[in-house]
Amino acid sequence: MRTAPLGIFDSGVGGLTVVRAVQTLLPAEDIIYLGDTARLPYGSKSPETIRQFAHEDIRFLLDRGVKAVVVACNTVTAHALPSLQEQYRIPIIGVIEPGVVAVLSDPGTQRVGIIATRGTVGSHAYQHALAQRRTGLIIHATPAPLLVPLVEENWLDHPSTHAALHTYLDPMVDRGIDTLLLGCTHYPLLVPMLRNFLPPGIRIVDPALTCAELVKADLTREELLNPAESGGKLEIHLTDLSEQFEDLSRLFLARSPGRISRVVL
Ligand code: DGL
Repeated sequence: MRTAPLGIFDSGVGGLTVVRAVQTLLPAEDIIYLGDTARLPYGSKSPETIRQFAHEDIRFLLDRGVKAVVVACNTVTAHALPSLQEQYRIPIIGVIEPGVVAVLSDPGTQRVGIIATRGTVGSHAYQHALAQRRTGLIIHATPAPLLVPLVEENWLDHPSTHAALHTYLDPMVDRGIDTLLLGCTHYPLLVPMLRNFLPPGIRIVDPALTCAELVKADLTREELLNPAESGGKLEIHLTDLSEQFEDLSRLFLARSPGRISRVVL
């Protein structure tokens, strides 16, 4: 099982930000990535539909013999992680726990702003997990659904994206947040713009790096870590394929994605 691939999935190509972090930390692992681009966005769908999609996504990966799965979608993690973990026996790692760990890694954190999809904010998964682990934390969570299509449009430095950031973030900034948690795997591409946009001193947290560390810890504990030192391959499967998704994949991965295939679930 050690040399079996790792499965990673998301509703679209946003989860490739997690792939990038995993590749950096675990360069020997082969990765099979599934992006359900045909049914994106998940963030505005009901919890029942998200769970149904999540089970279909994970079965695609299991059929390809993966040894563990990373749910690189906050919305799926928020609504479906426990049900996936109950049903399947392999390690399944989500992105919310890593986000929480990353926020709390700074003992000085007091006021946290969270932006995520409507589904993730509405689940209160981040808010509960943070409040449970640190009392007195002030949390402002705002759904920022328009940022997903803006990122998918590659409008990473565009006046419309700027206007959306004002609407979503000004109220949090006015309340004095010291940390901004990016609770959606699409948002890390906005980090350069956010750095210019936010007042200095606000820490931006992308759960991807901590997620990769938790994946490494889980694989090590389960004795599933690939013993090689490098050479991991990446296979990308999308349920809808267009030139735009290929361009975006390059952007999210920060390098050529290689061949991308279209699949039907
Ligand atoms: N990547 C998804 C997430 O992290 C957001 C995109 C969607 O709405 O499907 O929640």
